[in-house]
Amino acid sequence: MRELLEDIRLDAAKSLNMARTMSEVDDLRVRFLGRKGELTSILKQMGSLTDEERPVMGKLANEIREFIESLVASKTAEISQILLREQLATEKLDVTLPGTRPEMGKRHPLQSMLTEIKQIFLGMGFDVAEGPQLEYTQYNFDLLNISEIHPSRDVQDTFYVSEEVVLRTQTSPVQIRAMKEHKPPIRVLAPGRVYRRDTVDATHSPVFHQIEGLVVDRGISMSDLKGTLEVFVKKLYGADISVRFRPHHFPFTEPSAELDISCFICHGSGCSLCKGEGYIEILGCGMVHPNVLANCDIDPDVFSGFAFGMGLDRVTMMRYGIEDLRLLFENDMRFLRQF
Ligand code: DAH
Repeated sequence: MRELLEDIRLDAAKSLNMARTMSEVDDLRVRFLGRKGELTSILKQMGSLTDEERPVMGKLANEIREFIESLVASKTAEISQILLREQLATEKLDVTLPGTRPEMGKRHPLQSMLTEIKQIFLGMGFDVAEGPQLEYTQYNFDLLNISEIHPSRDVQDTFYVSEEVVLRTQTSPVQIRAMKEHKPPIRVLAPGRVYRRDTVDATHSPVFHQIEGLVVDRGISMSDLKGTLEVFVKKLYGADISVRFRPHHFPFTEPSAELDISCFICHGSGCSLCKGEGYIEILGCGMVHPNVLANCDIDPDVFSGFAFGMGLDRVTMMRYGIEDLRLLFENDMRFLRQF
């Protein structure tokens, strides 16, 4: 038995010495010291020893157990040292290496323009309102006094989601929402994204942006409309800009007009921006149609209002001299960084 025990001591010392990983060490610990391990199985034979031999062998076996335990412990410590050193080496941070610079974003020109326009109207006492991009046909067309046979309702022009829901083709339905939710006085500006079935080119996109304005109160007249829009234009483009209202037609306003501003490049003498006209059209406007007021439970005999709608993309392109609408949607940083 002594020989067997000494063999285990030698074997354990040799194997543990060669172990390289934690799992190897653990396997060896189980192999020698485990409940079904080599040392245990020898101790089980102690019964066959004489009374004199038993304590001697018992002592030797304990000594060997302690020897193996201490080997396991020191080997474990050694391997964890090595692992730590490896980890420190691989996770080393070279603070002298150049860093990766986070790309700074910039405000999109549409956003800058919108902020500027909002500031002007907020200064005139307007609130900013928003409506959903998926809109009821009732709000997008019917309640705005747009007839059943109006061409804009055509599936060729409008994205229908169902018979009753469209991707809104204009921000004008926000007028309806504002008038249904609040009683006059109402002064709101409603910017947002709108959709039409257009093919993409330098001046068309199926997605674009409009800014709607609405004022409803007692005694609102065409002169309020003209005065408000003239102040707006002069704040946006400069005091030397002159405006001209041209008669037009919109189903939701009566009378209706389009607002032109004198060309801020050539000041009226004619250039490529205004196509020789001297004036540039910037928005549609008019006095809110009595039917529209009535559709929103506002009495047209007591209240009146004006409304306007402009294309944000167009005014932005004009402001910055951008010649292709697509540039506003492509998110090319080389383009966007210029603003
Ligand atoms: N909704 C019109 C369009 O998309 C723009 C417009 C014109 C809005 C006149 C108005 C308005 O509020 O009074 O072409």
